[in-house]
Amino acid sequence: MIRRKTETPKKIARCGSIPRHVAIIMDGNGRWAKERGLSRVSGHKEGAKRVLEVVEESVKSGIEYLTLYAFSSENWNRPKLEVKALMKLLLASLKKYGKLFIEKEVRFLTIGDISALPKDCQDALNSLKKQTENFTKSNLVLALNYGSRDELVRAVNKIEKKGKVCWKDIAENLDTAKMPDPDLIIRTSGEMRLSNYLLLQSAYSELYFTNVYWPDFNASQLEKALCEYAKRERRYGFTTEQLKTND
Ligand code: FPP
Repeated sequence: MIRRKTETPKKIARCGSIPRHVAIIMDGNGRWAKERGLSRVSGHKEGAKRVLEVVEESVKSGIEYLTLYAFSSENWNRPKLEVKALMKLLLASLKKYGKLFIEKEVRFLTIGDISALPKDCQDALNSLKKQTENFTKSNLVLALNYGSRDELVRAVNKIEKKGKVCWKDIAENLDTAKMPDPDLIIRTSGEMRLSNYLLLQSAYSELYFTNVYWPDFNASQLEKALCEYAKRERRYGFTTEQLKTND
């Protein structure tokens, strides 16, 4: 939730075209699988492969933060077997891709309450966080058991101050406290909603929706989203004319 210290909102509005923070709602694994006569879990497995491809492309593009919605606080409502398969896939993916993240110097972070995840997943997540904690340039953030409303409730309960609370107090206690707000939020599969994802942090985010299912979302799809983002004018409440002047 921090901005580059020296930049005013007006300067941020004018700043370069590569988003500093991209957040993605990876949707459509189930439909992708159904169209191919496959199980939903096969769709998730194919989706996990795209995670690696998109992380690599985002590092190459100079995106500082990539936040992926991997499991929402509402996803526990899915059939037990699917939840179990998703946790197993998470663990397998961390083991498989962890080395590559270290090699590429990607710092690994999570948002959401991971204390509800199976113990082996928590251990693998914490271990990868520890091994990558000193990297600074690229950050991969997995949103796990994450939902904005749950995040807000946890943040409010963390605030010790008595009396009036301001936005800064809340922002500093959100899971994203040390992260910049997302510049660009991408949702795949044609659905046009945010589904409890980064609702407070997306106040000024650019939104990009594509009909492509997540398992078909590759490096060139990300590039397409980045090109669309580059055309957007971010005004943060200012007028276009104001943004053209230097003060
Ligand atoms: C949404 O598709 C996808 C999810 C709820 C899970 C996202 C998980 C992955 C991409 C794979 C594993 C991720 C990691 C980080 C290893 P959906 O099932 O809602 O699709 P549908 O709307 O077509 O049914």
